[in-house]
Amino acid sequence: MVAKYLAPLGVAAALLVAPTIGAAQDVDYVAQVEALGGDAKKGKKVYRKCKACHELAKEKNKVGPHQVGIIGRPAGIIADFGYSDAMKDSGLVWDVETLTAWLSTKSKSYMEGTKMNFAGLKKENDVKNVIAYMAEEGGIYDAGTN
Ligand code: HEC
Repeated sequence: MVAKYLAPLGVAAALLVAPTIGAAQDVDYVAQVEALGGDAKKGKKVYRKCKACHELAKEKNKVGPHQVGIIGRPAGIIADFGYSDAMKDSGLVWDVETLTAWLSTKSKSYMEGTKMNFAGLKKENDVKNVIAYMAEEGGIYDAGTN
């Protein structure tokens, strides 16, 4: 498979310094995640709630699409996953802001017609921590090669 993603966060942070790769990205997702200040270790526990449906470190779909390179990844683009039209047409990009909204809200209220059936995380810190973990383990999307 083509190396579409930059993983994990530490490596991505180092690579972003290199102009050839950094130039492809308008948004500094690494800085966004750092500014959020979540605790990835605690986020790993929170992510247990997602694991029945999502794989984070492997490009393998379950009930939900895999989440390799999820930070900065446009919504609905995993070719071999059967998304809802709502997700495919959402025009969202999964950054700190959109993920925070998505994960702290009942998914079917946030996006009418989505196939994700999740009640939402009640605690603000759980949301921050899980995003930190997703960045560390899933990594940053590399828009430059797509
Ligand atoms: C019951 C299964 C289930 C659970 C639990 C679940 N998801 Fe999902 N998720 C899905 C499905 C199905 C989709 C595809 C939605 C669609 O196509 O409308 C999805 C989509 C997503 C997307 C968009 C992916 C993309 O490629 O655009 C993100 C981000 C996401 N989920 C994050 C999470 C996180 C983080 C958790 C845990 C806090 C979680 N999900 C829990 C089933 C689940």
